[in-house]
Amino acid sequence: MGVVERVMFFIALAVLCVASTAEVYMVGDDHGWNINSLAYYKEWYASKAFKIGDSIVFEYAPERHNVVQVTYENYNKCNASSPIKTFNSGKDTIPIKANGHYFYICGIPNHCGMGQKVNIRVVSRDSPVTPTPPSGITVPSSSTPAPPPSTAVTFSKDLIGTFGFVVLAAVAAVA
Ligand SMILES: *[C@@H]1O[C@H](CO)[C@@H](O)[C@H](O)[C@H]1NC(C)=O
Repeated sequence: MGVVERVMFFIALAVLCVASTAEVYMVGDDHGWNINSLAYYKEWYASKAFKIGDSIVFEYAPERHNVVQVTYENYNKCNASSPIKTFNSGKDTIPIKANGHYFYICGIPNHCGMGQKVNIRVVSRDSPVTPTPPSGITVPSSSTPAPPPSTAVTFSKDLIGTFGFVVLAAVAAVA
């Protein structure tokens, strides 16, 4: 490899090392946000590794469904009467901005009970795992100050960067 190629290779490798792709997840995949069985949605959300920077998209006929973000308790009870947030455009894109556990149900009577509900658990690989309360217990958010995530992210990126450099050094030595 010539000098230019090595430099290009290093840049490409460095980009690969720091870039983490933001995913856009269509809730329910091909079936969208509809009355599908609870098992269907469970399988859908259990198979995803949601992280900060990703988005989830609810796509549905707005005259038939909506999206209501609720507490864990109201998620279990399918109670949409005190929403944290309500969406009703028919195509709602919700960016994931923080670690946590997010609960969405359809607010149209009976739809949640028929299985139209998802829970989105976000645990970033770059940040320390935030303990989630055991089922049924709600911890007031004020009592748990969020840890500063920036140090963890920087540390982890440094590690990856170092790793990338070691890989590069090895390749360069061979080339
Ligand atoms: C629904 O939730 C609200 C607020 O949390 C509560 O006041 C109401 O009693 C609940 N309704 C049912 C049927 O549980």
